[in-house]
Amino acid sequence: MKMILSPSILSADFWDLERQVSAVEESGTEYLHIDVMDGMFVPSISFGMPVIETLRKHTKLVFDVHLMIERPERYLEEFAKAGADIINFHLEATDDPEGCISKVKDLGKKVGITIKPNTPAKELEPFLDKVDMVLIMTVEPGFGGQKLIPSCLDKVKEVRAMVDEKGLDLDIEIDGGVTIDNLAKCISYGTNVIVAGSAVFKGDIKGNLDKMNEIMKKG
Ligand code: DX5
Ligand code: ZN
Repeated sequence: MKMILSPSILSADFWDLERQVSAVEESGTEYLHIDVMDGMFVPSISFGMPVIETLRKHTKLVFDVHLMIERPERYLEEFAKAGADIINFHLEATDDPEGCISKVKDLGKKVGITIKPNTPAKELEPFLDKVDMVLIMTVEPGFGGQKLIPSCLDKVKEVRAMVDEKGLDLDIEIDGGVTIDNLAKCISYGTNVIVAGSAVFKGDIKGNLDKMNEIMKKG
C-alpha cells in the first residue's frame, strides 16, 4: 500500500504561500491538503475556489480537497473546476451521500467520504465499495494545531478491517493532530494517507517534511 503525506496549507503562512508550497513540491511530497470551511458546518471560515484556482496554475501537487461545508452537493462542480483532484465531503453534511459520490465521479475526480470523531466507523460501510478514499478525522474539524483524539485511531483499525474483509483497495486518510512523534504510531493503525498541518508548516518546513517522509517510507 502506498504511503502518502498530505500537508495541510491551513497552517501555512499565506504571505509566503508560493515558497511554502514550492518547498512541499521540492521535498518529493505528492499531495497538498486543502481545507475549505464555510463557518456553518464548522465554526471557522478558511478559503475557497479562487485560492485553489490560483495554486492550480503553479503546482502539479495532487490537490486533496477537504470540504467542511454544509450540503457539499452545491459546490462539487466548482471545486472540480477550480482544480481539485480528490474531493472529500463529510457524511454528516449531506442528506445525499450517494449523490455526492456519483457527482464527483462524473466530474472525473477521486472521491472521499469523511467522518467526524463522534461518527461511528460503521456508518462508512455502505459506501466503502463506491469511494476512492475515506477520511477519518482525528480532531474535531475546524482548526489546525489541535491534539489528536486517540479513540479515533481505533476507528481507523475498524475501517481497515472492513476494507480488507471486502477485498477493497482504497485509501484511509487521517486528519488532525499528527506530529513527527506520533506519526509511526498512527501508521500502525492502518492509515496510508496522512494529513499534517502544523507539524509541517511550523518551523523548518523542509526539515519537517524530510523527517515525516522518512517515517512514512518505513511504514
Ligand atoms: C482541521 C483540518 C485539518 C488541519 C490539520 O479541521 O481539517 O486538515 O489543517 O491541522 P493539524 O495537522 O495542525 O492538526
Ligand atoms: Zn483537513
